[in-house]
Amino acid sequence: MSTTAPTPPVHDGVPAFDADLFSDEAVVAPYQLYRRLRDVGPVAYLSRQQVYAVGRYDEVRGVLADDETFLSGQGVAFNGAINDLMRGATLTSDGAEHEHLRQVVAHRLTPRALREERSSIDAKAEALVNALLERDEVLDGVTDIAQAMPMSVVPDFIGFPDDSRDQLIGWAVAALDAFGPPSERHAVSFPKALELSAYIGGAVEQRRMAPGSLGHELLAAADRGEVPMSKCPMLMVDYFAPSLETTISALGSAIALFSQHPDQWDLLRENPDLAASAFNEAIRLESPLRAFTRIVARDTEIGGHPLPEGARIAVFFASANRDERKWDRPDEFDITRQNADHVALGYGAHGCAGQGLARLEITSVLTRLARSVARIEPVGEARPIVHPIIRSYTSVPVRLHKA
Ligand code: HEM
Repeated sequence: MSTTAPTPPVHDGVPAFDADLFSDEAVVAPYQLYRRLRDVGPVAYLSRQQVYAVGRYDEVRGVLADDETFLSGQGVAFNGAINDLMRGATLTSDGAEHEHLRQVVAHRLTPRALREERSSIDAKAEALVNALLERDEVLDGVTDIAQAMPMSVVPDFIGFPDDSRDQLIGWAVAALDAFGPPSERHAVSFPKALELSAYIGGAVEQRRMAPGSLGHELLAAADRGEVPMSKCPMLMVDYFAPSLETTISALGSAIALFSQHPDQWDLLRENPDLAASAFNEAIRLESPLRAFTRIVARDTEIGGHPLPEGARIAVFFASANRDERKWDRPDEFDITRQNADHVALGYGAHGCAGQGLARLEITSVLTRLARSVARIEPVGEARPIVHPIIRSYTSVPVRLHKA
């Protein structure tokens, strides 16, 4: 009797992937599954979510680079409800419209504009670290550091009215949760995303954005006729939703990783110039955004496998950043490696518009901590959140040992 290996399932010429990448177990410990996704082929069909997916580095970058074939204009989420709600944002537009929207809002986020923010962000990082060092007790790397820093910067920068501050983190988590595949979770998070959208609509209508903020300037651009006033609420959501929880995730992961790798902390203390590379390495290894999607504009192929016009395809940033075809020792935390070409911040036309701000916040805190903290001791288990889109922690218990 001849024994032949079982043929892997195929969907219209594309290898099928039957495991659920979005189950609670999978999102808490996703990396073995991402490896299986990459091993299936250059592109796969996720039977559970009924979308195509790329998980290898070259293909992820290739899809992100080709924004004429792989469109964002019909939404980048995994479900129709949020894709309909998010129509017309920067994140969810294509071509000339996208270029225009990005120009209108992102000029506050260019390296030159951010130079003016540098000293105030650094002063906030210094104040935060000094306050932490006065507390001789177990701290939570998430609430005390990873949330505290962006909360002291982002709401003022974007211009959120004071009465919203207590709700911002909850809204940010829910808004990104609502990008996930249809599920029971989605039924809870989507109404919260609607709540955020309604709140911002009201704040825009009553012109309550703080003077000097990105939101305030957006209204001024609308007054000058550069962008329709009706688009302002969605553009505000567009900048708010990814600005808080992604940065919290990145900083929380950096604290967790440094607590687990004291040798890497010593390297940063010896050479604070490594802070930029440490930021890159933390988000390469624990990419805050797992995956977004695109729509295929015309019949095409990836690695010889056909993709039909109109299909939705998921782009797994978090898998590409651990692809063994690209990275040497992909699962190791090494702040000295060449890591600037990770895709945790996307790539191409839609590459993260706020990355300069996130980088500034996180490198300021890491540099200030490295000056005064000899060791970040882990004093309990770092607990990941159960979230379809964000990789982050609910809690990272640590003790800071003064230098
Ligand atoms: C470490 C923190 C951050 C991470 C990991 C991150 C990640 C990403 C990724 C992967 C994309 C690409 C989405 C796509 O290709 O569909 C993106 C786009 C974007 N991000 Fe970020 N982000 C971060 C911080 C921020 C901040 C602080 C802001 C705002 C102040 C921001 C605003 C945006 C916007 C507006 C876009 C859409 C750009 C476009 O479509 O042209 N992000 N981000």
